[in-house]
Amino acid sequence: MMTQDEMKRSAAREAVNYLSEGDIVGVGTGSTADYFIQELSSWGGASGAIASSEITASRLRDCGIPVLSLNDADSFGVYVDGADEINRNLEMIKGGGGALTREKIVAAVAEKFICIADETKVVDVLGAFPLPLEVIPMAGAYVSREVQKIGGEPTLRQGFLTDNGNVIIDIHGLTIDKAVELELELNGIVGAVTNGIFARRSADLLVYGTKNGVRTEYADPK
Ligand code: A5P
Repeated sequence: MMTQDEMKRSAAREAVNYLSEGDIVGVGTGSTADYFIQELSSWGGASGAIASSEITASRLRDCGIPVLSLNDADSFGVYVDGADEINRNLEMIKGGGGALTREKIVAAVAEKFICIADETKVVDVLGAFPLPLEVIPMAGAYVSREVQKIGGEPTLRQGFLTDNGNVIIDIHGLTIDKAVELELELNGIVGAVTNGIFARRSADLLVYGTKNGVRTEYADPK
């Protein structure tokens, strides 16, 4: 029986098949993305990578993969990252590791987003996983009150600052059936930097490990 880690690794390995020699590859953050970095390194075909966090940048460099600045890449083909939850429309909750803002920026520039996951991440409705919201520190109390008005229960992630020097508020108790609308609404709160709903730019392809092997799912045409 495959363990969760083996399912993550098998998805990461499969994602390499979607790359071409010489590609610049966008690389996500988290344990599944870490497996992808190992697979990218063994493959050896990437000409460089765009990192979605400081920790991913340092892991890429440790593997000898050149890390490029996003400002120097007008566009690139593929961004590969994990998710905390993903639904059948390939909308996601991300940011369990706190890297959501840079992840969303890198994903915005990539032509294609491949989500790699294990089967435990695939859900019918988003929201059981607390939704991360990156917030400018001085706005924490205000943003928390605004979050309560829309029915969420905010908790400040203790002892954590993002790569951008901000705090994370984790929002509990949401059932997210209109992901695009909620993503926009949360973006509209002054002091909120980014929320972890990836619906306006959802994944194009989900590659996920199951106990019986790797499966793929494409997003429905919009
Ligand atoms: C990092 O901020 C997150 O968005 C991760 O991509 C997400 O939490 C998935 O992490 P794991 O692969 O470790 O489950």
